[in-house]
Formats: sequence, structure tokens, C-alpha cells
Amino acid sequence: MEKILVLDFGGQYNQLIARRVREMCVYAEIIPFNKITVAEIISMGYKGIIFTGGPNSVYDEASPHFDKGILNVGIPVLGICYGCQLIAYMGGGEICSAGSISEYGKTQLTAKESRLFKGVPVNSVCWMSHTDYVKSAPAGFKITAITPNCPCASIADEKRNIYGVQFHPEVTHTEYGGIILSNFVRDICGCSGDWTMADFVNTSVEKFKKELESKKVLCALSGGVDSSVAAVLLHKAIGSNLICVFVDHGLLRKDEGDSVERVMKNEMGLNLIRVNAQDRFLRKLTGITEPEKKRKIIGTEFIRVFEDVAKEIGKVDVLVQGTIYPDVIESGKGDAAVIKSHHNVGGLPDVIEFESIVEPLRSLFKDEVRAVGRQLGIPEFLVNRQPFPGPGLAIRIIGEVTKEKLEILRESDAIFREEISAAGLDKETNQYFTVLTNCRTVGVMGDAGTYGYTVALRAVTTDDFMTADWSRIPFEVLGKASNRITNEVRSIGRVVYDITAKPPATVEWE
Ligand code: XMP
Repeated sequence: MEKILVLDFGGQYNQLIARRVREMCVYAEIIPFNKITVAEIISMGYKGIIFTGGPNSVYDEASPHFDKGILNVGIPVLGICYGCQLIAYMGGGEICSAGSISEYGKTQLTAKESRLFKGVPVNSVCWMSHTDYVKSAPAGFKITAITPNCPCASIADEKRNIYGVQFHPEVTHTEYGGIILSNFVRDICGCSGDWTMADFVNTSVEKFKKELESKKVLCALSGGVDSSVAAVLLHKAIGSNLICVFVDHGLLRKDEGDSVERVMKNEMGLNLIRVNAQDRFLRKLTGITEPEKKRKIIGTEFIRVFEDVAKEIGKVDVLVQGTIYPDVIESGKGDAAVIKSHHNVGGLPDVIEFESIVEPLRSLFKDEVRAVGRQLGIPEFLVNRQPFPGPGLAIRIIGEVTKEKLEILRESDAIFREEISAAGLDKETNQYFTVLTNCRTVGVMGDAGTYGYTVALRAVTTDDFMTADWSRIPFEVLGKASNRITNEVRSIGRVVYDITAKPPATVEWE
């Protein structure tokens, strides 16, 4: 398989670079600069290397550097931002601080003829974000682009196939960024594009067939995208030797438990055990109003339920985790099994006896996981599912969770989701749901006064959920949702729309 190495120097767009390469059907992996040697790079057969950006200055002693021998091993290199400065520095070029004229944002790029700029017009817009810049190109390099404040916006040694760009071709604001990256990956590195999700599925199935032959494998299925795709993929490899446990804690959205069971058991043919633990969770949540307590109780109870089921199943050999590539990268290690406490209900591995963990999706980005899901025939509504927190609706009911409140929240949430979908906004809105506030207000219905709950609509747009903006849902859509909710859901007397970004708020209300 053709591979591009994204050598990580700590830049903020590193994942984006890998994704852009993968969009060209070429596998790219991100490895920190201090976790790999030149010899390993050669032996791993990379077709090209991209040095990422980074926040440092090359002259700082503590700044990340790399063995300059890498420029002479015959593997094409593209340095981006800090990566470009590092290439220049390694070759003896001069780097300066741009001081007060540091460039940030859209900048006019004037490009000269270069293999990297094939198909890029002389004048175009690029995205800059730097304080240092290359003042003079190192020996053997020519300057292939400039900007008003950057005398070496791009440098190239075409004999050795070493290139550097000060700007960021991976962000969409760089008009011809896609073409520039494709010139590097396809033309300069000679990648043909052999990374497809169909191949991924076939290779994984073959691999797990061999690796897990006659093993008993256990998977905690939440109904979320990652665990569903991981389970179906493994089921394809080892059939009923995979046992999936789906704990329905009663905090799921309308009809969710039934639809997960129907799809996974009946349509996908999984060996699925559904545990109906709704009452058990509700009992534990009685009288609890504090969000963190709710989370803890749900996490602990989840483990208890799982333990009970595991006892019946007996010893298992392997446990499946739905870890995906961003989790692996964020661990900073690139090789450890990572379980994000925030996203994993409980710490299952501690309570179940098993020999090893398998993480079938650990090399994939979320959109690739979805593509694999489609490839496996998982229905679109499951594959395209928005994120849903482990503690479920319990953290969307402010105050105590009761059966009645869960019903009210479920109905309002289902209506809001229907209206967002009907308006065609479900793809661009990353997460949208309703929250049952603990607030009752006065209203009027017919001739009678009412004192109903206030429900809040929440919809956000975000790349990574670390920050988020509130979605500009058109008033007509909000109006229709509000109308339907107050008409169709008994006990709701008022609807408000949350227009707070994260920060200062969080996406969830609790
Ligand atoms: P916040 O509210 O922290 O949410 O801005 C960011 C993302 O994380 C989800 N979230 C959770 N997921 N367990 C989870 O598995 C949790 O306790 C939890 N809290 C928030 C939230 O839905 C959003 O996608």
C-alpha cells in the first residue's frame, strides 16, 4: 500500500494534512518527529514525507528538529510552514522573525513555474499563519513563490524533490491548495491512489479472520457510529464468535434502543445481547440532580450491568474497542490503546477477563469510519448519526431524571431532529438536540392558563467539539419546531433557542 508520512512538528493542522492526502485515496499517517528515525522511514517504504507546521522557531534550542540526512535518501519531502523553515535551516538558509509584519490570513501568492505549482495560476490566494519566514533559500533551492511580505513563500530543490511552502495548502482558504498537495502526492511522489474503503474492509476482514480464528470476542455496542462499524466489520470476519452486548440504560433517544437492536440483530445478523436495564438506571438516578454525580452513577452502573452479563458469557479472549485515529493521535503516543474517559461509558477493560484488545478502526478518521460503515451496508441513519453522550438524556434533563421527564424530552427531541432533517440542515449541523430545563413558566392555551416546562433547542456547528458555534438555523425552521413541540408535547409550554458558543458554554447543558 502506498503511504505518505506526515511528520508531526506540533502544528495545528496536522490532522487536516493527513485527511487531505487520504481524500486523494492515498494512505497517510501522522507520526511525531521524535518517534521515528530516518532508517525506520526508509524501511517502512513511504512514498513521500510532509513536514508539518509547528509553533516554534527553528533557532530555539528546544524547537523540534530532525536528522537532516532525511533530505538525501531519495524520498520526496514537502515542508509546510515550520516544516518549510526547517528544510531551509537544514540546508543552511536564513530564517528571520517577521516581527510586526507577520502574516496571518488570506494573502496574495505569486507563483513561478515549479512541479509543485503545475496548474496553479501566477496569482492566487493562499492562507498564511506565521511569525518567522525564510529570508534566503538554501544552496540548491530556487524560490518558486513570493507574497508581499514573504520573499520565499515557496522553495524547491527539484533535483532532490524537496519542496517547502510557507503557506498552508491543506486549508480550504488556499485557493489552489488541493492542486498543490495533489501535485506533490500524485506527481512528485508518484502515488496512484490505492487506498479505498472497499480495500480497507477486505484487508481487515482477511486479517481478523486469521488473527481471531476460534477466539471469543466481546464488543460493547452503544449504537454510536464507531462501535457499530467496528462490530459489523468484525462480524464479517468472525461471525457469531463475536458477541455484542448492548446495554439499554433507558436514557436513549426516541425509538433508539429498538432501532439499534433491529438493525444490528435482524439486518446485520449480529450475535447481540440486549440488556434492558432501564429501571435499574432510573432507580439509581432517583433524587440525583448534580451533573457529575449523574455521570458517575451511570458509568458505574454500566459496568455493573456489563459485569453481570459477562459472568454469564464466561471468559472472553478479546475485547473490541471503537478507538479511531484522532484518539490515537491525541494520545501523543501513536501506539497506545486509548480509552477517552469522557467518551467511554465506564472502564470496561478493568472488569472483564480478557487477553487482548482489538481496535479495528484505529487508523481511520471519522468520515472514513462512516465510509466503511456504508461499505458494510449499515443503514445511513446509523452511519450518519450525530455524536451522542454516553450518559445520554440524563445530562439533557436539568435536575432529577424521571420517567415522565424522559418521555417529554424524547418527544421534543424527536420533533426538533425531524424538522432539522426536513429543512436539509442535518449534514451541516454537527449536533442538535433539545434540553429539558428545570424551569416552568406561565402560558395560556385556549381559555386556560398553563404552567409548563421550558424546553431549549441546541444546535452547534463545529470541527472538533473543543470549540463550537451556535448554528444559524433559519427562524422559519425554529418557528416550525417550536410550534410542533408546544402543540404535540403535553407539558411543554415554552421553547427557547440557545445562542451561546463554546466557550463560554459547553455543547451539552450539563
Ligand atoms: P461538551 O458539552 O463537553 O460536549 O461541550 C462536547 C462533546 O462531547 C459530548 N459529551 C459527552 N460524551 N460522555 C460522552 O460520551 C459525556 O459525559 C459527555 N459530555 C459531553 C457532547 O455530546 C459533545 O458531542
